[in-house]
Amino acid sequence: MAGLRGALIVLEGADRAGKSTQARRLVEALKERGYRTEGLRFPERTTEIGQLIGSYLEKKSNLEDHTIHLLFSANRWEQVPMIKEKLRSGITLVVDRYAFSGVAFTSSKENFDLHWCKQPDVGLPKPDLVLFLKVSPEVAATRGGFGNEIYETNSFQEKVAKRYAQLMDDKTVNWKLVDASQDIENVHRQLKELSEKAIDDAKDQPIGKLWE
Ligand code: TMP
Ligand code: MG
Repeated sequence: MAGLRGALIVLEGADRAGKSTQARRLVEALKERGYRTEGLRFPERTTEIGQLIGSYLEKKSNLEDHTIHLLFSANRWEQVPMIKEKLRSGITLVVDRYAFSGVAFTSSKENFDLHWCKQPDVGLPKPDLVLFLKVSPEVAATRGGFGNEIYETNSFQEKVAKRYAQLMDDKTVNWKLVDASQDIENVHRQLKELSEKAIDDAKDQPIGKLWE
């Protein structure tokens, strides 16, 4: 039974939108429905590059802004052979953050434009579905405060939200906006339905290339 591939499904959104919780539950639900499914996350902090990123995020080291941007991208590229192999073997991947986080966060810094920020990630495996979890600042506030990492401030996250909105204008990417202010079960159900459709649509399509 050659040819039937898995889908690449990405979850994006601001901090405290519930991405990690929903990603975990989505993997479990898809498995229960009989789809071979695995979860990934970016940054993947366990690799050598990932450790540099982790140290930057935790404010233990300082890195020049272009440099950290390229490290985030490199941290995706180093996983690409594995990602392609899994998709081709029929495994669906649910990914917590991807290149859209890379662009939304760096381009929120002074003197970075969207175009420059996208370039290092051009040609990555293209997600079959990008689920954007949108949560109002009010609801996000009820989910507790930020941690201590470098980007976890309200003023920076507001800029990030605007950049995500710009990225979502790109109709070459299969964005689905989900209202993540709803209760967790409703959100989960919607993500599951959208994902099952994406798996079905992707299974006999070639893996695309992002932003090419
Ligand atoms: P996390 O909280 O999901 O582990 O993500 C860590 C932080 O890294 C989060 O603030 C978003 C940011 N980030 C980037 O700046 N660029 C990237 O490419 C990725 C994947 C995350
Ligand atoms: Mg975080």
